[in-house]
Amino acid sequence: MKGVILAGGTGSRLAPLTLVTNKHLLPVYDQPMVHYPIKCLLNAGIDDVLIVTGGEHAGDFLRLLKNGKHLGIRHLEYAYQEGSGGIADALKLAQDFADGEPICVILGDNIIEGNIRTAANNYREQRTGAKILLKQVPDPQRFGVARIEDGKIVEIIEKPKNPPGDLAVTGIYFYDQSVFDICATLKPSGRGELEITDVNNAYLRAGTLTHEVLEGWWTDAGTFQSLFRANRYVAEGGANKL
Ligand code: G1P
Repeated sequence: MKGVILAGGTGSRLAPLTLVTNKHLLPVYDQPMVHYPIKCLLNAGIDDVLIVTGGEHAGDFLRLLKNGKHLGIRHLEYAYQEGSGGIADALKLAQDFADGEPICVILGDNIIEGNIRTAANNYREQRTGAKILLKQVPDPQRFGVARIEDGKIVEIIEKPKNPPGDLAVTGIYFYDQSVFDICATLKPSGRGELEITDVNNAYLRAGTLTHEVLEGWWTDAGTFQSLFRANRYVAEGGANKL
């Protein structure tokens, strides 16, 4: 399985910090943000990695990560996203890299306490379709939210005003190669982006979406509040603990 870290976007919710650098290069305690999803992939035995980024500060990734060897990455590639067409638009750029293999996709601002090794192994056995990781949150309206009936996901709703539960869809996804066919069919949402939630709902409709609930804390870091929380969690307890 290969790894794809999505680290583009304008980071507008973190302006003015993001006027001078990419969101995913901002510090979270003692590391640049992007180091955490990299470690998360490495801990699951995924060391063939693509970073998709964009914007004016894309060159800084090369300065920081170089060829990735010093971090334990066996093979590191970069892709450049033009514009800000959303997560599923960025994912399209991973098609050549994936080259028919399954991928683990992580949003570059997602940080976890534990690891995804078991989930990755379960997906390796699943072989086809997709797997998403869920987590209980106090503020589900900020995320994609899974509506669950009899233990099964029946719908995923992006940023619902009235969430049907408290299980957020985290930014960690496992996909087979059909993800690129799905991305090619998507239409922009109300916020003008190709939504990863639409990708997951396509797998759901096909009956090939599985899920697990993540253990330990999970946070994004795309707002001042969540960036602060990420700093606190990492400083107090550490991330990506085995
Ligand atoms: C994105 C996804 C959302 C998901 C979240 C996880 O939201 O659209 O479904 O729950 O990442 O971090 P965004 O950060 O683009 O608002």
